[in-house]
Amino acid sequence: MKSSFFIALMLLGNLIYGQKFENLALTPPMGWNSWNTFKSDINEQLIRDVADAFIRDGYKDSGYEYIIIDDCWSLRERDENGNLVPDPEKFPNGIKALADYVHSKGLKFGIYSDAGTKTCAGYPGSQGHEMQDARLFASWGVDYLKYDWCNTFGRDPEEAYKTMSDAMYAAGRPMVLGICEWGTAEPWKWGKEYGHLWRISGDIAPCFDCVVDHGSYRDWGVMKIVYMRENIRKYSGPDGWNDFDMMEVGNGMTVEEDRSHFSLWCMLATALIMGNDIRSASPETIEILTNEEAIAINQDPLGIQAFKHTNLDSTEVWVKPLDNDEWAVCFLNRKSTPVWVEFDWKQHAFNDPVFSYEVDFSKEKFRLFNIWEGRKAGRTNRPLSAEIASHDVLMFRLEK
Ligand code: GLA
Repeated sequence: MKSSFFIALMLLGNLIYGQKFENLALTPPMGWNSWNTFKSDINEQLIRDVADAFIRDGYKDSGYEYIIIDDCWSLRERDENGNLVPDPEKFPNGIKALADYVHSKGLKFGIYSDAGTKTCAGYPGSQGHEMQDARLFASWGVDYLKYDWCNTFGRDPEEAYKTMSDAMYAAGRPMVLGICEWGTAEPWKWGKEYGHLWRISGDIAPCFDCVVDHGSYRDWGVMKIVYMRENIRKYSGPDGWNDFDMMEVGNGMTVEEDRSHFSLWCMLATALIMGNDIRSASPETIEILTNEEAIAINQDPLGIQAFKHTNLDSTEVWVKPLDNDEWAVCFLNRKSTPVWVEFDWKQHAFNDPVFSYEVDFSKEKFRLFNIWEGRKAGRTNRPLSAEIASHDVLMFRLEK
């Protein structure tokens, strides 16, 4: 009796206050997004070809699922009923037909809008049209909404994302909500209530450690984003992830840098959203993006973001607790020259200060699996001794 009273109270609460669709992102979302490579140059054929590449090159088999159209898909004005209108030159058959095509491949479809009056590229935003847009997206079969933060002019971020989250819930179709607020209002502290992941930074740039200054804003290299925020890993986990932005793998860095970028994104348990032209990716790029052992570390059900255990000169040692008392360890050489790493496991103990996982290698022994060589690599009773190329990684799963 008592419990049914509380359930009724909860349902009433949800009606009044709204609720997100739960459990849509128990592991970090995986997919592809048009922005990093194509910006406004998007169209129906591109998206269809990307869906085909998902199947042809094994991305779907590796776990990639969402195909997300970013900014610039609509006309510059809403129609006379206030509806968003897909640009008929870019999307001659509309969005629903395209979402149907993506679904016919067993994949999911994502789209983009903005919490302000206009998107970052100046197309109509959803402010004041949240319910109307959420219904439209639901009617098209959208599974994922990336919701940006341009032109919001003092709007309260929590209110803005709650409003869209409530609208999506009321529209009745389960959709992932990607909060793209860039970290200014600390979305890790409130994002999980309304969405499934939240950007922690401004936009990524296809470089290892650079900053691209555009005057009023900056884009950030991979390492800059990795180090942008402190002490936020405690907020990230199943159904609510810190989002380190879409990947730049295949967009001009060296193979070693791409490998490090991908390894870090796996270690950090952030969304794996490809941002390259996967219609024509090189074999090296495909090999990186579809490494199933690396992906398994990203998708580990514990969902714990890695932390830095130590620095050995300029080599960083990142560690990530995994399910079943296993660990992932990533040695990253930040130098522009190769390094020789000596690591005597028995002298080390990993202590996760937030999630309370620990291991002392003087007491426990693990088998090593080298992720990028795809082979067993001895045990932790022997010191590790290996060369790592400039900006490259050595990454292991530690197995019981
Ligand atoms: C912002 C976002 C990017 C992209 C663009 C589109 O900069 O952070 O990821 O969506 O807008 O205009």
